[in-house]
Amino acid sequence: MTGFYRQGAALVCDGVPLAAIAATHGTPLYVYSAATIAERYRAIDAAFAGYPHSIHYALKANSTLAITRLLRSLGSHADANSGGEIDVALRAGILPSHIVFTGVGKTSAELGYAIDLGVRSINVESAGEIERIDALSGERQVRTKIAIRVNPDVDARTHPHISTGLKTNKFGIPIGDVRALVAVTRGRPNVEVVGLHAHLGSQITTMEPLARGARALVDLARELATDGVRIEHLDIGGGLGVSYDGSPVPGPAEYAAAVLPILRESGLAVVLEPGRHIMAPAGVLLTSVVDIKSGFVVMDAGMTEIIRPMMYNAFHRIEPVVVTDADPLTADIVGPLCESSDTLGKNRTVPRPRVGDLYAVLDAGAYGSVMASNYNRRLLPAEVMVEGGEARVIRRRQTLEDVLALET
Ligand SMILES: Cc1ncc(COP(=O)(O)O)c(C=O)c1O
Repeated sequence: MTGFYRQGAALVCDGVPLAAIAATHGTPLYVYSAATIAERYRAIDAAFAGYPHSIHYALKANSTLAITRLLRSLGSHADANSGGEIDVALRAGILPSHIVFTGVGKTSAELGYAIDLGVRSINVESAGEIERIDALSGERQVRTKIAIRVNPDVDARTHPHISTGLKTNKFGIPIGDVRALVAVTRGRPNVEVVGLHAHLGSQITTMEPLARGARALVDLARELATDGVRIEHLDIGGGLGVSYDGSPVPGPAEYAAAVLPILRESGLAVVLEPGRHIMAPAGVLLTSVVDIKSGFVVMDAGMTEIIRPMMYNAFHRIEPVVVTDADPLTADIVGPLCESSDTLGKNRTVPRPRVGDLYAVLDAGAYGSVMASNYNRRLLPAEVMVEGGEARVIRRRQTLEDVLALET
């Protein structure tokens, strides 16, 4: 068995007790299962087998170097959202030709970097960005491959803060404007339109919006072909969700069944940018109880370690690492920060805890550690990966010296 499960009363990661890992490395602590990352990557790859596809793991979900390296070793390419993420991809051994560069506000310095590297495509967000890429490529006397990020105005039916494919969202170029824009872009000497891209949002658990997104791209590619524009790939973004409460949700097989029949009509290679689906269930955040007061259990991790509950009202299961037979207690499980909204979970029932008890915030592997901050002068948590029965540190705990080194 792989991942996080119970052996008797104890929660383990790939057979290694989480209590032992916390005893060695302290809390707050992120723990990842290498086996789960591999399984979940391979499940997506298998679902799209038989059709030309490449998986560009969305680094924004979790770009710790060891995790990025592991995914590269499995065959993953990268979706980078900043110059920093491009750098991490390269340091992890991912080739420039295996990187797509996305992002709503790429600076000219970042664009120049991607152009110099010759990434697979820059996913462009506006006519102005195309103009800048053309000029920067002209200075370098190169032709840069771009994909047009289309805003298809499809409701992903997810939390509004992680919806990106509606015309009210800041992302992409309105679908109705793309043909005219491509016609103008064809006249530019230093850019080549090689793809269409759409990312509707994240944590999508109904397949119909994803199918509509694929349909929009396939129809647009057909229209471009009638205009004489032949592209190479369709990038359908990420978005496939996970179950945060344990209820069943569609997985890679259902996703492929929804989009592949549509994509096949185009005959074009498909680019996938999954992040959350691979990483969320592959990580937990371990945290210790520091205080218990009326209605509240106060932990040593909060919004600085995992901001998702506060930012998206996200639900995460929070479980004792070792279940006890203490009487149940219903309380809000909160963090230590000086913010009323610093809550990990509201109205949770747990065995009455004691100070020092260890808890796990489940499904914390995506958009967890990457969003951690130093607010209240707190220090970034350490990260550990369990692989082959051993837990090794993949990011050491930050020290105050690390933080103050930047200051005068
Ligand atoms: C352009 C793009 N691609 C891929 C992703 C990854 O999405 P997810 O983690 O839902 O798979 C995101 C995340 O929002 C994104 O903005």
